[in-house]
Amino acid sequence: MRLAIVGGKLQGTEAAYLAGEAGYEVVLIDRRAERPAAGLAAEVHVFDVTTDPARTREVLLSCDAVLPACEDDRALQFLSSFVPRMGLPLLFDFDAYAVTQSKLRSNALFERLGVPCPLPWPRCGFPVVVKPSVGSGSTGVQLVSSEPGLALARAALAAQGAQAVIEELVAGPSLSIEVIAFGGEALTLLPTFLEFDAAYDCKRVVAPVEGAGAAPGEHAGAAPADGARWPAAVSAATLAALDTAARRLAEGVALGGVMDVEVMVAADGTPKVIEIDARLPSQTPAAVYHASDANIVALLAETVAAGRPPVMAPRARRGAVYEHVLVEDGRVEVLGEHIVGGAGPLRRCDGLYGADVVLTDRPETGASRGRWVAVLMTRGATAAAARERAAAAVARLADEHGLEIAPESAPAHESACAVDSGSALGPGAS
Ligand SMILES: Nc1ncnc2c1ncn2[C@@H]1O[C@H](COP(=O)(O)OP(=O)(O)O)[C@@H](O)[C@H]1O
Ligand SMILES: [Mg+2]
Repeated sequence: MRLAIVGGKLQGTEAAYLAGEAGYEVVLIDRRAERPAAGLAAEVHVFDVTTDPARTREVLLSCDAVLPACEDDRALQFLSSFVPRMGLPLLFDFDAYAVTQSKLRSNALFERLGVPCPLPWPRCGFPVVVKPSVGSGSTGVQLVSSEPGLALARAALAAQGAQAVIEELVAGPSLSIEVIAFGGEALTLLPTFLEFDAAYDCKRVVAPVEGAGAAPGEHAGAAPADGARWPAAVSAATLAALDTAARRLAEGVALGGVMDVEVMVAADGTPKVIEIDARLPSQTPAAVYHASDANIVALLAETVAAGRPPVMAPRARRGAVYEHVLVEDGRVEVLGEHIVGGAGPLRRCDGLYGADVVLTDRPETGASRGRWVAVLMTRGATAAAARERAAAAVARLADEHGLEIAPESAPAHESACAVDSGSALGPGAS
């Protein structure tokens, strides 16, 4: 199987890594050279699919399926009409994506389907989360606790021409689930547990959810324990409600592909959906793969080929952690995934630092104290054991390169009770 992946940043890296695990040959197309996924591809073609259809046709005709892995509307729209006309399987559902790409449209869908979601302002009180309707990677997400702060946050979004979503802050924990659907049938995968940095960017994915929660402070370098705001345990009822919500949402967008559903769990255990994305997400599929052996890229290809998802039950076989570190200025820090989007081509190094899989753009020779990133994937008998192995890998990395381990950051609402307006901003790049 030769899989064409269009887009070589975060989604493309996820797709290329999992395609490699499935034994596929990866053909990457990106309009820019030196993207992170380039190091994981057998072939890399640097051009814009929308402006060079003849070349697009030539490259895609050498492949067996096409997986768009970017958020460029023009490229997605182009591929959605071009690829089916070539008779090639397209592992993407543009109509579903068009709904989920907009948080305002998504929220309207949640209301219509009766899927629990955060209360919209002004039906909720402060603090509120303010975020742009369109965007990803936590860009522009702000926590606001007062009217003046809200006015500022609104003005900042309006100045960028962005529509604002203003909603109740749900403290969490934060969970995610993927669903693959086709022809009205849906397959839900293993839910995962997410942790964020101070910029609300996801820094760590843990699976399975059972036993994944460590209150801040219980693991190396995290926020102080007095900042803990959620119970570490997620109930079976919450996970069942998450599964139900994912299936209802897949049906609601008539999904023909893969969708990611992200929730914050409310104090009463209700998973409140904060975001859906009908496209291959990054980070969580690799954690699902390591914990359950379910390869979402392979399952997606099989689903589109067969016209329906395979019948299988997601089951955790072991624990898994997926996290990334930035090395800079003599320090190593576990940070959100925006650090990976800007990395150079990632090399896969199994066993490095004692982790199971490492993807890194660390220079092969010399300057290992410069700026580089590493994605660390670890397995263990349980989620807690996988966490310990991840922490050990960071310690070993620091030791081998003579680096200091920087304390991890966490969202403001987890580490402090008082929330100031605009105290938490998205990384502003993605
Ligand atoms: N209503 C909310 N309550 C608490 N945290 C939220 C809420 N909305 C967003 N967040 C936080 O901000 C992050 C980014 O917001 P999200 O809606 O997922 O947008 P993006 O498209 O940028 O991923 C979430 O993963 C979560 O940590
Ligand atoms: Mg999100």
